[in-house]
Amino acid sequence: MKNIFEINHPMIQHKLTQLRNKETSTSDFRRLCNEIGIFLGYEALKDIEVLEKNIETPITSMRGKYIDEEKITFVVILRAGLGMLNGILEVVPNARIGHIGLYRDESTLEIVEYFSKLPTGIENTKVMLLDPMIATGGSIIDSINILKGKGVKDITVLSLISSPEGLSKITSKFNDVNIYTAAIDERLNEKGYIVPGLGDAGDRIFGTH
Ligand code: PRP
Ligand code: URA
Repeated sequence: MKNIFEINHPMIQHKLTQLRNKETSTSDFRRLCNEIGIFLGYEALKDIEVLEKNIETPITSMRGKYIDEEKITFVVILRAGLGMLNGILEVVPNARIGHIGLYRDESTLEIVEYFSKLPTGIENTKVMLLDPMIATGGSIIDSINILKGKGVKDITVLSLISSPEGLSKITSKFNDVNIYTAAIDERLNEKGYIVPGLGDAGDRIFGTH
C-alpha cells in the first residue's frame, strides 16, 4: 500500500517475537516497545532536512551536518503511545512532545477523546504520532484529524503492529500521511483485537490486565 512502510529488518523481527510472546515480563515488554520504536523512528527520519554548520574537530575545521531537533514533535496517543516515547527521546532529546488522550469503548469500538495538549507552533514541525497498535484505525484517524485541525501538514505515524483493515481505512482517508510499522498482521478478530498481535498493549505496558 502506498504510504505504508513495513520495516522488517531482522533485528526488528527478533524483538517483535519477544514482544508478542505472552510470557514476556512487563519490564522486558516496556524495553522492547522503546527499542522497536527507535528503529522505526530512525527509518522514518531518513528524509528529514539536513542543515550544515562550521565546527572544529581536534584536527581541522569542517562543515558538519545536523538536524533541528526542535522541528520534530512526538505526539503520544495515551496511554500506550507512552510506551514508545522514552526510547525515541534518547535519540532525539530536544524534540517537542504533545499528548492526545483517547480510548476505545470496548463494546462499540468507538473512540472517546478525553485529553489533548499540543505544543504551540506544532504546525511548523514534523509530527510523529506514536501508538503501538493500529487496530480499527479509529484512534489514528481521530488523532490525524486533531493535528490537521491545528494546521499540521507533515504527519508520520510510528506503530509497532498494524492490521490490514486499519491501514486501509487510514489510507482511504489520508493520502499525505506516512505510516511506519514493524508488522502488518493477518486481521482483526470480532473484539477488534489484532491477530496474532500481542494482546492489549496498554495493559501490558502498565500492568493493568
Ligand atoms: C489501544 C491502542 C490504540 C488503540 C488502537 O488503546 O493503544 O490506541 O487501542 O485501536 P484502534 O485502531 O481500533 O483505535 P486503548 O483504547 O486500549 O487505550 P489505552 O492505550 O489507554 O489502553
Ligand atoms: N489495542 C491493543 O492494544 N491491541 C489490539 O490488538 C487492538 C487494539
